[in-house]
Amino acid sequence: MTIAEPEVIRGRLVRLRPKRLEDAPQDYQWRRDAELSSFDAILPTTASYEEFLREFRYDLASLGPRRKRFAIETLDGKHIGNCSLFNIDEKRRQAELGIMIGDRNYWSKGYGADTVRALVDYAFSELPVDKVYLYTLDWNVRAQHSFANAGFKEVTRISDDRNRFVVMEIYRPTEDGSAPTFDPDNVDW
Ligand SMILES: CC(C)(COP(=O)(O)OP(=O)(O)OC[C@H]1O[C@@H](n2cnc3c(N)ncnc32)[C@H](O)[C@@H]1OP(=O)(O)O)[C@@H](O)C(=O)NCCC(=O)NCCS
Repeated sequence: MTIAEPEVIRGRLVRLRPKRLEDAPQDYQWRRDAELSSFDAILPTTASYEEFLREFRYDLASLGPRRKRFAIETLDGKHIGNCSLFNIDEKRRQAELGIMIGDRNYWSKGYGADTVRALVDYAFSELPVDKVYLYTLDWNVRAQHSFANAGFKEVTRISDDRNRFVVMEIYRPTEDGSAPTFDPDNVDW
């Protein structure tokens, strides 16, 4: 699978550009934030900046074809968060979506839904996938509303020993506009 790196993905309110090393200081701040970490059901990092930077550099260098990471910028170039497509699976024709708007000044103003729409359009036009799915914690109602605004539908709820997640997905629109067929062999839960 060879996929050209996009220069930039354009939304209505945002542009998404590939991640770069200069993002490290801002990303470190967000990764140390307890509330932001809780939305991903993880603990804030306790790594030093040097340790974080080493891992960040390695991660950027080893992205591979199954993962695309982007910075979310406002149209005037302010870095407000990050998003990604990962677990890109050519065989099952699906990819998982992740998003975090780290700058709280930009919550609940449509930036999340705009980012998700742009990322899904990119996935369906450039990647070998017909379905994009995501997991979000059941109490993260803002995220669920935002994803629903971007066209995602809840398909099920699953739990691990500590958390309960809502699973949402969106299918590539069919050419004749009919509803895409649900394929029970193509599920992860
Ligand atoms: C989740 C996130 C991407 C959503 O993006 P956003 O720009 O804040 O959200 P949007 O403006 O697109 O949509 C938010 C929707 O939720 C609604 N909403 C906001 N707070 C809410 C709350 N507490 N309860 C219910 N609905 C709420 C808004 O009214 C809006 O819906 P509407 O447009 O139909 O009125 C963003 O808030 C974020 O990154 N948060 C921190 C990290 C996170 O939660 N990541 C997701 C992990 S799966």
